[in-house]
Amino acid sequence: MEPVRWWQECVFYQIYLPAFCDGNGDGRGDFIGLAQKIDYLHELGIGGIWITPFYPSPLVDNGYDISDYCAVDPRFGELDDFRRVVAACHGRGIRVVIDLVLNHVSSQHPWFVDAWNNPASRYRDYFIFTDQPNNWQSFFSGSAWMPEPDTGQFYYHKFAPQQVDLNWQNPQVEQEIYRVMDFWLAAGVDGFRFDVINFLTTDGIGADNPQSAGEQEHLYDVNQPGLMAVLRRLMAYARARGELFLIGEIGSEDLAVLRRYQAADLLDVVFNFNLGSQKTFSAAAIFAALTAMNEQQPGLPTLFFSSHDMSRMISRFGENERDTDRARAVLALQLTARGVPFIYQGEEFGLTDYRPRCLADISDVQGRTHYQTALAAGMTADEALAIALTHTRDASRAPLPWGEKDALWKDYRELIALRNHIPVLRYGAYTRLALTDACIGFSRITADEQVWVAINFGAPVRNPWQAVAGEVLYGDNAPWLGKNQFVIKRRGYGKAQ
Ligand code: NOJ
Repeated sequence: MEPVRWWQECVFYQIYLPAFCDGNGDGRGDFIGLAQKIDYLHELGIGGIWITPFYPSPLVDNGYDISDYCAVDPRFGELDDFRRVVAACHGRGIRVVIDLVLNHVSSQHPWFVDAWNNPASRYRDYFIFTDQPNNWQSFFSGSAWMPEPDTGQFYYHKFAPQQVDLNWQNPQVEQEIYRVMDFWLAAGVDGFRFDVINFLTTDGIGADNPQSAGEQEHLYDVNQPGLMAVLRRLMAYARARGELFLIGEIGSEDLAVLRRYQAADLLDVVFNFNLGSQKTFSAAAIFAALTAMNEQQPGLPTLFFSSHDMSRMISRFGENERDTDRARAVLALQLTARGVPFIYQGEEFGLTDYRPRCLADISDVQGRTHYQTALAAGMTADEALAIALTHTRDASRAPLPWGEKDALWKDYRELIALRNHIPVLRYGAYTRLALTDACIGFSRITADEQVWVAINFGAPVRNPWQAVAGEVLYGDNAPWLGKNQFVIKRRGYGKAQ
């Protein structure tokens, strides 16, 4: 049996800090607000939080554009506020994972301020400059190359022009990042979530990317072969400093890509976008992802259905705007399946998407960049707006409406409690995983106990576990399961009964 890791014990909760809880009344979430909600998170049963970037930043991409790695942006609080949050979380048994953005820094970072337009800068080689740009496109649309005014050179940015890619071929960059890790580990963090970590430009600038169906295929700018060695060194450095949780955001929905990065000497887990970012609801597609994750992934998968980058799960999966029945059934799956669950803030309130309608509603840099690129390509303002609205990521970033607990909150609390108290839900291997019509059924087992779960997303089907002699933990053990009904049963075999 694999050794038990502390993070396998936890249900995680993503805190998108700018929209979580405003403690100082300026309309933006902050550490004072977060400190006020630690009891709330504890009551919900959360065992670990992942906090999105809070470092000094121009906030062009809400903090994913860092201008100082070793401080807290005053709009989010002070370093001592952060330390107090960590201490209070630890006092409540909640671990703290922070976001580390290693692919790029803000164009306002002192390294880039010094390097920009200045070939003599000692930081020039921290970035990627060229006389001859290739065809690589930014993930936020348009060219990934930005001209400098005086040098005739261009700098490279995979995201917004204000997010300048670091040159991972320069060993000094790596040394700088080790110092950053040390700084936050000394502040007590329990792990890192590495932003777009498979995007690091470790092999420099290569061939043009191919185009297919009018879209650029990102063949040479991501998943560069040299990344593996860099990643191994980064993770070894972290692991030598404690029992940390090392989470990778691998920008891909392809399990074959995701799983490459998960290993004892690589990342502990990767975000399973193959499951988490399914755009519409399909029990068959969810089942296929669960099966593939179980059979092909070298470690535990992650279980999430929402984040700050995507539309909320209820809005994507519901048959109507507020389909909480299906959301409850998906939640039952998320908290009983094998893996590490991550809940995005506000899902427990049953929140639906914020829907921008005009340009003024669009705050997200990806949405705004698409708008500008479309205009520059000669489109009308209406056409550009339509494109921007399909790419903008404002949907799940509205401030949380504290005080409006929805009926789903109770289910979150109860199902999280179940996972926290029934070890087989954290450690059990699947003994069976099957799909009947739109009903996902599985059983999980350890030496001490077994659970049986059936979650029916479609027309009534026979309850596959009705005859199993177990204690019903949740739902109704009726002969038939109606739409969005589920049942969770358990039987103890050993001393843990
Ligand atoms: C992934 C983050 O989740 C997203 O919000 C950000 O825009 C990109 N990485 C770039 O840092």
